[in-house]
Amino acid sequence: MNILLIGSGGREHALAKKLTSSPEVKLFAAPGNPGIFQYATSARINPEHHAEVLEFCKERDIELVVIGPEAPLAAGLADDLRLRGISAFGPSREAARLESSKAFAKDFMLRHSIPTAQYRVFNEHQHQEARDYVAAHPLPIVIKADGLAAGKGVTVAETHRYALEALDAAFDGKFGTAGRSIVVEEFMQGEEASVFAICDGERFLTLATAQDHKRIGDGDTGENTGGMGAYAPAPIVTPNILRDVEERIIAPTLRGMKAEGKPFVGCLYVGLMIDLSGTSRVVEFNVRFGDPETQAVLAVLDGNLAQLLHSAAVGKLDARSVKNVAGGVACCVVLAAGGYPGEVRKGDEITDIEDAEGIGNGAVSVFHAGTAIRHEPDGTTSLCTNGGRVLGVTASASTLEEAIKRCYEAVKLVHFRGKTYRTDIGAKGLPKG
Ligand code: AMP
Ligand code: GLY
Repeated sequence: MNILLIGSGGREHALAKKLTSSPEVKLFAAPGNPGIFQYATSARINPEHHAEVLEFCKERDIELVVIGPEAPLAAGLADDLRLRGISAFGPSREAARLESSKAFAKDFMLRHSIPTAQYRVFNEHQHQEARDYVAAHPLPIVIKADGLAAGKGVTVAETHRYALEALDAAFDGKFGTAGRSIVVEEFMQGEEASVFAICDGERFLTLATAQDHKRIGDGDTGENTGGMGAYAPAPIVTPNILRDVEERIIAPTLRGMKAEGKPFVGCLYVGLMIDLSGTSRVVEFNVRFGDPETQAVLAVLDGNLAQLLHSAAVGKLDARSVKNVAGGVACCVVLAAGGYPGEVRKGDEITDIEDAEGIGNGAVSVFHAGTAIRHEPDGTTSLCTNGGRVLGVTASASTLEEAIKRCYEAVKLVHFRGKTYRTDIGAKGLPKG
């Protein structure tokens, strides 16, 4: 099966590795990264130019296009592929609104009685009304830009002053068009977890549950990031809680999307808040695999991912392509460049990845995110840093404790100047006390 993978992050490197573990898969990728190209041939196309993608798919007999990030989905790449008869794993532009418009997602959940925080939506002509509403709202309060803002559009405010500043900044254009509408939301107490459902428009299969670590600092302190590490499966999502999430959140979401004429095909990412009583509500939907959760979730997946995603893309989900969604436990620690999530230096040489991958007989993978190959004047090449999140060191084992231990052994072996990481990834999954 010829597959084209769209994307260039750690999530796509993990997808590339798992997809090509099926011997029948020949993988192409765009834009790709040096890690992805260990498993895939570069398609040398610009995924923003849909005509180029379509031409490539015809030339190379691509049977499936797996779309990693949200931007090409929101831009309608899956629609254009399907119009030409090419199977795509990823939702249509309309179905992608579950992520690309928080106002759409909230109104959708209200229409279909899917549990989430209380909210109100305000547009740019309702700035004063929004200010009055925020000023009278109990604290903490959550302010969200409606559109895609690369994970930066959410403010959890402990004071009304801070909340009003966030509101004004969004309406003043801090997030561009993403901030033209604002969602003001009740703060939910609890612990967060991520659930990924592979969907064919009607049916779904949930993969191993996971927990991300969004803050830059140990103990969930400091600035929000794209995600500093993850582990899977997450014991906070007990079998009962997962069943409840499937029944009260995922199934009604798929029914609702179908009934509204935008069936959801792809990976539905349900960001959950689970309270002390074990009740789950939706914090956010994403319409693609999470990063860095995917690195851990796929490390424990025992099955044929290519077959699974292809079956979903053609509307005939084949759950038998997966033997066990959680055959073990995995931990992924993100190595970031110094200064992340602010401005970072690029071009620092990365060494000793092979040593890290030598630990545990294949139990460790180092996934590339912000890396690039540098061509030296003497004709040699070297790997160097090229972004904020540089690598995702991922280890699997039979227990979480062992996975964490292996992961940090490997983390210590990889070197680049300014290497920054959290030292407590996965700790929240260990038994307390
Ligand atoms: P989002 O981009 O919607 O995932 O929001 C980013 C982060 O903000 C989430 O991962 C939560 O930690 C936090 N957050 C968002 N909405 C809420 C809410 N209603 N209550 C509590 N925390 C929230
Ligand atoms: N890990 C958070 C995300 O992928 O959005």
